[in-house]
Amino acid sequence: MFQDLKPQAPDTILSLLAQYRADERPGKIDLGVGVYKDASGQTPILRAVRAAEARMLGAEVTKTYTSLAGEPAFTKALSAMILGPDIDPARLSAVATTGGTGALRQAFELVTRTSPEGAVWVSNPTWPNHLTILAHLGAQVRPYRYVDADGTGFDRAGMLADLGAVRPGDTVLLHGCCHNPTGINPTLADWADIAALLRERGAMVIVDLAYQGFGDGLEDDAAATRLLAAALPELLIAASCSKNFGIYRERTGLLIGVSAPALAAVTQANLVYLNRSSHSFPPDHGARIVSTILGDADLAADWRAELDQIRTTMLSLREALAAELRQIAGSDRFAYLAQHRGMFSRLPATPGQIEALRRDHGIYIVSDGRMNVAGLNAATVPILARAMIAVGI
Ligand SMILES: Cc1ncc(COP(=O)(O)O)c(C=O)c1O
Repeated sequence: MFQDLKPQAPDTILSLLAQYRADERPGKIDLGVGVYKDASGQTPILRAVRAAEARMLGAEVTKTYTSLAGEPAFTKALSAMILGPDIDPARLSAVATTGGTGALRQAFELVTRTSPEGAVWVSNPTWPNHLTILAHLGAQVRPYRYVDADGTGFDRAGMLADLGAVRPGDTVLLHGCCHNPTGINPTLADWADIAALLRERGAMVIVDLAYQGFGDGLEDDAAATRLLAAALPELLIAASCSKNFGIYRERTGLLIGVSAPALAAVTQANLVYLNRSSHSFPPDHGARIVSTILGDADLAADWRAELDQIRTTMLSLREALAAELRQIAGSDRFAYLAQHRGMFSRLPATPGQIEALRRDHGIYIVSDGRMNVAGLNAATVPILARAMIAVGI
């Protein structure tokens, strides 16, 4: 049978990382892979995560199976962090998942199985793995416009016009904050208009929330998701704890359903079924780290403080890069770098310019122009700025 297997294209971002590792130049700079890195280039274990794990080691008495939905302490605490105090708990269903990707996979499976004729609308561009999973499930994918003609701002009119063609039974995937790969985000006023339109169109909505706390803060980054939950009768939220708790390899995510209270039980049963039919019980270690932190006032305060420091470090790097470029280029055309939010910005660069950054300057960014701002530090900001100008960006 294996002779019939088709070759699979390698993941472009992981291939870039392999190329970076093989590069022997000492001053090489990795702005490719999407993980947070501190000034020394490390992806740190957060203080509260270490403390929670130490506590768990002493307190855990069993490693028997958790429930198919995961531990309620985790699903409740994370749902509350995402949706805030105003949502009616009777509208909610939730299951722990294998990272944010697991939540997305199951959300996509739920909508494509329930509405096989419906299209799934995604922003152009979007995180490539959205497209990989949707293609694997055989979904009909339709792009909506997101980026303006300059390649650096929000195309509000284009997005609203394209989503005007959404039909009942279709699903619209939205990035809740810190859009990946562009870093471009609608304002809350834009979100209100998007929500009103999707309500009128009768769309199912999936919010991908992978970066809560990486943009403007935990509350502000959840504001669009909360607005959508209040405005729409039904919603799925695929949340990841990989970035904001820094527990990438623990595979910790949550899939939340928001519905009419009368439909919450059947929604919950279907979310549980999706866990059972894919991998049975969800991973527990990372979920337990999260519930230990969120359930303890001191740990939660320390986690929030460290997350905020990570967020403001990324903002300062954005501002420093925009300022450096303003000085070198003598123009404000790079101001967008300080306006974008989250780990990524997408440079409006040609493939040749991206290749020249790598070949002539040892600077690695993704082929579509996406760069990870967290890969920079005070010393590399001016190096990147000069290289960008040198290659003609
Ligand atoms: C937009 C987006 N959604 C979801 C995820 C999935 O995160 P996880 O590592 O928790 O599966 C990522 C991770 O890079 C992402 O960028």
